[in-house]
Amino acid sequence: MDVEEFIKGIPKAELHLHIEGTFEPELMFEIASRNHKEIKYNSVEELKKAYRFNNLQEFLDIYYEGANVLVNEQDFYDLTWAYLTKVHEQNVVHVEIFFDPQTHTDRGIPFDTVITGIYKALEEGQSKYGISFKLIMSFLRHLSEEAAFKTLEQALPYKKWISGVGLDSSELGNPPSKFERVFEKARSEGFITVAHAGEEGPAEYIWEALNLLKVTRIDHGNRCLDDINLVKQLAKKQIPLTVCPLSNLELKVVDDLRNHPILKMMDNNLLVTVNSDDPAYFGGYMNENYIEIAKALHLSKKDITQLVINSFKASWLPDPEKEKIITQIEIYFQNN
Ligand code: ADE
Ligand code: ZN
Repeated sequence: MDVEEFIKGIPKAELHLHIEGTFEPELMFEIASRNHKEIKYNSVEELKKAYRFNNLQEFLDIYYEGANVLVNEQDFYDLTWAYLTKVHEQNVVHVEIFFDPQTHTDRGIPFDTVITGIYKALEEGQSKYGISFKLIMSFLRHLSEEAAFKTLEQALPYKKWISGVGLDSSELGNPPSKFERVFEKARSEGFITVAHAGEEGPAEYIWEALNLLKVTRIDHGNRCLDDINLVKQLAKKQIPLTVCPLSNLELKVVDDLRNHPILKMMDNNLLVTVNSDDPAYFGGYMNENYIEIAKALHLSKKDITQLVINSFKASWLPDPEKEKIITQIEIYFQNN
C-alpha cells in the first residue's frame, strides 16, 4: 500500500481543532438562512474566494464573522456533528477539541446554548462512531483578563464536561503572562492547561506558557526552534507540540510545506503531532494534513506511524487506553 493509503487507514487522534474552524461554507449558508442572518458574500464560491490570508489576523477576522450566524443549540450541534462525521470517515478515533465561548457569549448567546449543542454531538459521536473525546475551553487572548475570568466563572457549572482550558486568537502583543492569574485559578479548579504559543509569537511566549501558565501541551510551537535551550527543555520534558501543517501554510507561518520544521522537530526528539486547526478554512482535515506534509517532506510509513503514536501519547486518554491503541497502530504498521 502506498503512503497515502497508509495514512487514510491508520487510526488517528486530533488534538488541535477549533470547532468554529470546521464551519464549511455550505453549512454556514444553511444555518444563516434558517436564522435570518446576513452573510457578506453572495455565494459559497464567493465566500471561498475570501479564504486567502497573509497572516493570523486576516484569518481571524473572517473566522469570527462566520461564527456570527451560530445562534441556537441545534446550530452548535450541527456544526460539531458535521465535523465528527467527516473525521470518522478519515479513521479519526479520538478528538480533543477547542471551543471559543467568548465568540458567542459576546453576541448574547448563552454559554449553556453553546456548550450543550457541542457536547450532545460529542456524546452522539462517541456512541454512534466510537470517537472518544475531550473538550477544551479556549480564552480569546485579544480580550481582557477580566473577560477571561468571567468566562471561567461561567464554565464552572460545566466542569464535568470540560477537561482543559486553552488560549487562542491574536498572539502578537497578547503574551501568556496576561493570563497568568486566570490560568492559576483554572488549574486550582482542576482544569488541564494548554496554550497557543510560538505560532506568530516569539520563543519567549512558549517559555511563558510553560513557566507561567504551566501548560502540559503547546499548540503550534513552531518558533521553539529559534531557542536551543527551549528545544532541549521541550524534548527533556516531552511536552507535546500540536503542529498544524496546512494552517501554517495558509497563514504564512511557513512559505512552503517543503520548508516545514516538523522533521527537524522530530530529529530533535520533540513530541510533535499533526492536526488540522481550522480545516474548513485551510483546505484539509486530518488526512489531508498528513498527506500533504508526507508528500512535501517525503515522510516514510515509519515517520507517519511515529507521528500518529505521538498524538495518542500526547492525548489525555487514560494510560491503558493509550497502550491499547498504540499496540493496534504498531500492528497496522507491521501489516501494511
Ligand atoms: N483560533 C482559531 N485558529 C487559531 C489559530 N491558528 N491561532 C490562534 N487562534 C486561533
Ligand atoms: Zn489553533
